[in-house]
Amino acid sequence: MRILAIETSCDETAIAIIKVKKIGSKISFDILGNEIASQIAIHTQYGGVFPMMAKREHDKNIFHIFEKALKKANLYKLRVVNNKLKTQKIKELEKILEREHYLSNNFIEQITKIKKPKIDAITVTTGPGLEPALWVGISFAKAISKYWNIPLVPVNHMEGHVFSIFPKKDKNFVINKKEKIFPMLSLLVSGGHTELIVIKDWQKYKKIGQTRDDAVGEAFDKVARMLGLPYPGGPQISKLATTARRNESSNFSRSGSSSSLVRGPEKLELSLKQITFPRPMIHSKNYDFSFSGLKTAVLYLIRDLQKKDSDILQNDKIKKEIAKEFEDAVVETLVFKTIKAIKEYEIKTLIVGGGVSANTYLQKQLKNEVEKLNFSSSTTKKINIHFPSQKLTGDNALMIAIAGYFQYQNKKIIKNINSIKAKGNLSL
Ligand code: KG4
Ligand code: ZN
Repeated sequence: MRILAIETSCDETAIAIIKVKKIGSKISFDILGNEIASQIAIHTQYGGVFPMMAKREHDKNIFHIFEKALKKANLYKLRVVNNKLKTQKIKELEKILEREHYLSNNFIEQITKIKKPKIDAITVTTGPGLEPALWVGISFAKAISKYWNIPLVPVNHMEGHVFSIFPKKDKNFVINKKEKIFPMLSLLVSGGHTELIVIKDWQKYKKIGQTRDDAVGEAFDKVARMLGLPYPGGPQISKLATTARRNESSNFSRSGSSSSLVRGPEKLELSLKQITFPRPMIHSKNYDFSFSGLKTAVLYLIRDLQKKDSDILQNDKIKKEIAKEFEDAVVETLVFKTIKAIKEYEIKTLIVGGGVSANTYLQKQLKNEVEKLNFSSSTTKKINIHFPSQKLTGDNALMIAIAGYFQYQNKKIIKNINSIKAKGNLSL
């Protein structure tokens, strides 16, 4: 069967098409198309994602991305328009589009020219995310589902991130349902979420912890802004922190001391010890996180430093050091709780997903700690760890297509498409 997936929950307009074949317990996936229009360049100018701006961009891009994906999948064919049929179809479409806030007349003009593609199910992200942004994908999905009479399947964005670890190559991959991978632990870290989820079996989720305030990606973005770095801040902070660590280890090997900044900007006589941020909730009994206090600690430090030298943020060494200490605090907290959960729930497989899973320091520290656990374990059972390929760490429609396939198999097809709504706070 072929599935078309639509993702517009935040700042990526994405459409993917996959072909799925089930042979016994093995399910093979062919990626026919996987297209993304990123809005990052636009949001960078404003220092973050504004929901209505994201919606406008999705509106602008979605049809183009849809056509691109159909063309890639060889499913794009134009047809001769039958005007009588067109008038009747337009009436139906107008009803859906009017109700669903997707008002582009252009859409009706364009869709009536395309021949019904060989797609067996349409799947769309219904939440969590920015509601105005989600509505664009949902309305689009409803309209094409109704117009071409193709079943519609809603998908939770977070379930998409869980499935994002499976595609390793560009074209195809296999999921073997008999593989002994459970219990699994999923650490989901993005701009909107920080969650630990125990997965007992296929699609059996139990959230054991989440952030009580800022998501980890959000904290990266906010701290980056404090340091005068552009949105999205995660990759920027990560780059600075990596350089700081590299410099530190080369200074260490040269002088036998890691305190490079003691001899740094003399005016401030800043020692490394002065920059140490808290590890919020690290020793709490639960698996919850909190990053807003950490963000405030960075803010206060910058304020104090600026009192001594208003140009302090011009100093690259200081910026790198703050980035490194911040990343250390975040990663240590995430790793500590993840490892604690692995032990308590006797986890066999750790999977990490979401934009922040691209962070190389987080990847390295998690791998190290899992390796230590495996080394000290008396049994031969080893814990496996999986990250998405770099391209799939952020939001994409391929992960929604895979999750959509599993939902379709569970007969989660929507009978009354008018009942599908955007749910900003949808939970797994
Ligand atoms: O999953 P995602 O693309 O979108 C959401 O659903 O939020 O995640 C985006 C977030 C942003 O906050 C971005 O700064 C962060 O992921 N991010 C990173 C890195 N790459 C992206 N954070 C830390 N280190 C990175 N290398
Ligand atoms: Zn996401």
